Amino acid sequence: MLGKRPVLSMLAEVNTASERSHNLILIGFMGTGKTTVGKRVARSLGFRFVDTDALIVKKAGKSIPKIFEDDGETEFRALETKVLRECAGKTGQVISTGGGIVTIDENRPLLKEAGYVIWLKAEAEVIYERVRRNRERPLLHTANPEETIKKLLDSRVSLYKECADFTIATDNLTMEETCFGVTECARLALEPT
Ligand code: S3P
Repeated sequence: MLGKRPVLSMLAEVNTASERSHNLILIGFMGTGKTTVGKRVARSLGFRFVDTDALIVKKAGKSIPKIFEDDGETEFRALETKVLRECAGKTGQVISTGGGIVTIDENRPLLKEAGYVIWLKAEAEVIYERVRRNRERPLLHTANPEETIKKLLDSRVSLYKECADFTIATDNLTMEETCFGVTECARLALEPT
């Protein structure tokens, strides 16, 4: 309950996204809840839910770790841009994106054109606790995943900032509070006044 007050006060800052496509896009590092939040928010808004990672897996016909293993990160990123371009051509969607989507120069203007962009932010320590038991993220298959998270996060923060219309720090929010904040932001930003 306590978390709701900061979320509500943040809503005063929401700008509308009238000239852009009618989509809500969630960006942020691995483990920030983009997929879980995206699914719930899509239901609340009556939007379609799409997840760029899931679309990549469908296109490639194999899992993300297998794409990285067989074809390398470059091929994964090429598929990611292709999928993002396809999503950007449609409307009425909540689009959850992979954590590294902002690292490709071409993707950042595409994200902004695609709709209203919310950055789900979290500190490295919180991210590590959330992802440590999951083996689906090849970039974290390193000797010291916590250190890898810190380095990757440092290198990406400015890129998330560049793309985001709005930022929500999720560290101390429950999933329900984050969903509430995202849904209300999206309503203010995307619905006609
Ligand atoms: C990646 C994040 C993953 C997935 C891939 C690469 C990244 O998505 O796209 O493993 O570079 O941060 P999530 O952010 O949904 O875990």
